[in-house]
Amino acid sequence: MASASANNHQQKARPEKEWTRVHRKGRRRGKSPHHDTYSEIAGTVSNSTRSSSLSACDIMEEHKRITHQWESSACRHKLHEIFEPRIAHLDISDAICFGTGSFDPEDGSWEIKRKAHIQLAAFLSIVDQFQRGSSRRIRCVFQEPAFNASDKGFIRALGHEVVDSPIGFEQVSPSTLVFGIHLYRDIYAQAIAKCIPAMFIGTPREVWEECYGSDRLNWVELDELNEKCEKVKFPDDAGYTTFSSTAIHWRRCDET
Ligand SMILES: C[S@@+](CC[C@H](N)C(=O)[O-])C[C@H]1O[C@@H](n2cnc3c(N)ncnc32)[C@H](O)[C@@H]1O
Repeated sequence: MASASANNHQQKARPEKEWTRVHRKGRRRGKSPHHDTYSEIAGTVSNSTRSSSLSACDIMEEHKRITHQWESSACRHKLHEIFEPRIAHLDISDAICFGTGSFDPEDGSWEIKRKAHIQLAAFLSIVDQFQRGSSRRIRCVFQEPAFNASDKGFIRALGHEVVDSPIGFEQVSPSTLVFGIHLYRDIYAQAIAKCIPAMFIGTPREVWEECYGSDRLNWVELDELNEKCEKVKFPDDAGYTTFSSTAIHWRRCDET
């Protein structure tokens, strides 16, 4: 997979209240190669009760409209082709989606909303594809501290679970599909701390290496993920950075 430049893939999203600007002085644990000018203020991203400007029904309407566009996108079709030959070889019990961002962001940013909806639509279509090849129901869990009451109501109305951090991290097992796009190192670190999941969709090692340098990366769990998995670049959402610098990792059958 071609490695992507961290700087080329900085997101244009504006920070919400929970995020603050930091200067790029040195190597900082916890930063994301995608948002290297913004970082979490330790401890201030809470499982909060941020106010809502949209209702869960409003979010559902937007979701239907954006999902309709997603269904006919080239990205969706390429994803389908990537997964089709692999479905029979993977037994997924549950799927945990980390950090989509809010569907009702405080500044009402359309870019952030669209990204959250497309990432959700991609997650659900991957689960759906695996569900069709499985006799057991794949449980879907969402963990995003930025969710407000409407976000949570919307996800629950879709029939899925919302958990507070760190419950999602604790639920990752060897048969879990972990999905988290453009997250911070500390979030990924917690998601892969317990075990290597059956599938991990997120920032691959080579992107972190470009950010930290291979000598200073010093991340044993990511090395293990990289060694035990096959990987393929996540297809682009044409014209958008929704899945930039993201790879789909599958744990190889002979690895546990
Ligand atoms: C850099 S943003 C990425 C948002 C979006 N996925 C994107 O591609 O732009 C990181 C996201 O992780 C979320 N986050 C922070 N702590 C988290 C945690 N403990 N568990 C899950 N998500 C978390 C933040 O609220 C934020 O939405």
